[in-house]
Amino acid sequence: MSHGLARGLTNYGDRDFALYLRRSFARSMGYSDAALAKPIVGIADSGSGFNNCHRHFPELIAAVERGVLAAGGLPLRFPTISLGEVFLEPTSMLYRNLMSMDVEEMIRAQPMDAVVLVGGCDKTVPAQLMGAASANVPAIQLLAGPMMTGRHEGERLGACTDCRRFWAKYRAGAITKDQIDGIEGRLATTSGTCAVMGTASTMACLTETLGMALPGTAAIPAVHADRLRAAEASGETAVRLARTGLTPDRILTAAAFENALRVLLAVGGSTNAVIHLTAVAGRVGVTLSLEALNRLSDETPVLVDLKPSGQHYMEDLFAAGGVGAVLRELAPRLRLDCLTVTGETLGEWLAGPAGYVDRAVVRTADEPFQAVGGLVALFGTLAPGGAILKRSAAGARLFEHEGRAVVFQSLDDLAARIDDPALDVTPDDVLVLKNAGPIGAPGMPEAGYLPIPQKLSRAGVTDMLRISDARMSGTAYGSIVLHVTPESAAGGPLRLVTSGDRIRLSVKERRLDLLVEAAELERRAERVEAIAAPPRGYRRLYLDHVLQADAGCDFDFLRHPSRR
Ligand code: FES
Repeated sequence: MSHGLARGLTNYGDRDFALYLRRSFARSMGYSDAALAKPIVGIADSGSGFNNCHRHFPELIAAVERGVLAAGGLPLRFPTISLGEVFLEPTSMLYRNLMSMDVEEMIRAQPMDAVVLVGGCDKTVPAQLMGAASANVPAIQLLAGPMMTGRHEGERLGACTDCRRFWAKYRAGAITKDQIDGIEGRLATTSGTCAVMGTASTMACLTETLGMALPGTAAIPAVHADRLRAAEASGETAVRLARTGLTPDRILTAAAFENALRVLLAVGGSTNAVIHLTAVAGRVGVTLSLEALNRLSDETPVLVDLKPSGQHYMEDLFAAGGVGAVLRELAPRLRLDCLTVTGETLGEWLAGPAGYVDRAVVRTADEPFQAVGGLVALFGTLAPGGAILKRSAAGARLFEHEGRAVVFQSLDDLAARIDDPALDVTPDDVLVLKNAGPIGAPGMPEAGYLPIPQKLSRAGVTDMLRISDARMSGTAYGSIVLHVTPESAAGGPLRLVTSGDRIRLSVKERRLDLLVEAAELERRAERVEAIAAPPRGYRRLYLDHVLQADAGCDFDFLRHPSRR
């Protein structure tokens, strides 16, 4: 196997000439022979003017370069697609697989002995892990780190659970236009990812658990000096990885994914992480099942008191002991023989000094924040392939509930009618959104957090059972059933639901059922029209190849050959 500049030569039909030409062009950038002889560490830079969460990346990447140089490597940064969550139409999820292809192909096509993946915002870390897993070049993830909280009139605020809380108050008429405008400037005040246990923070915790990021680094705030030290250490570790050749497939094992699922449950993490973990696992031939999630959920307590399930923020988790404090509580339930990027096992890391733990934020396994895991999978006649409920962020009042469906055919239909004073809806009804899944929307937007109809929210209603084939932001909360699979646009039973049908949810039985006779559903099925595919481009590729939520919404041709 070749190293450094001699890796993966350009194909001119003359390998010696290809290396000669590459070296002469590399020298044009001012590198000495000594520099060009060192192990090359690529730095995948997902910074962008369209990504507020990554705005500190120039400083962070300079620290990575420092670490690479100090350890005797040559750092070479390269740009990739960046996915700034709120700047993308129709949804960042549509482009996660595209970014993963970019990352994979650029790692493979360019001559690097190891790569530092620098990402943070929701879809960037999953895309980088997916790409790196498929490229299988030694890799380490450097996380952006969470934002700091802001203050408004004495109240602590953090994106984006508080964005949703205040917007709900505004919709209910509880605060004025001037007040909501003032809060807008206080919700996201520093660089870094959302300040609560949303998708980005969840994926950061899971990446550290998987062993793909340095121990103790997931929760360090973006603007903290420790984050720069973590960047420098990541650069140093990448040089070591280049020398030892420890590849992602030896770290991303079935046991490591089981550990990650446990931590997802214990931190009250985002529902989106189920999809992303499934997709990353699918790249290395590991299957994650929703049945396994339910088994783990019953035996894994929620330990972390963070929004949206609890009251604290990511900077509090950092001060409380970080992911290591969670892992130590879970240790008897974890597979401790899993390797990490340091070359140590998880068990060896956890055997080190524990340090201070703030038990207000990270509870003990004996006195947990909640007795059972944060997520449950539901199955039934409405979701034969499964659906997800984040019970840690939902009101238990609706866990056993039967109600009348109020159906919205699409996101446009939802926007047009949800606040119509004439909408026939009561607090006990079940709001149902169709055509918001991977194919239907397309891109499975975070639209599952259906707003409470304004006439009900103004009357004081704060929660209702809501069901869709969409996703939900990890920062959102409520009695919300997501990822209904198969989605309505893929022929799932959800497409047959009509207003007035009865729907039954039982969290105890893990069931989600449409209480309509089979013969009536067959009659309705004959009248459903297929969705027209876009004629060209990435969206055509996407619709032709995207899989359902139970396969991580990856493309069929990107999964590990054993999982296609
Ligand atoms: Fe980037 Fe929330 S918008 S992590």
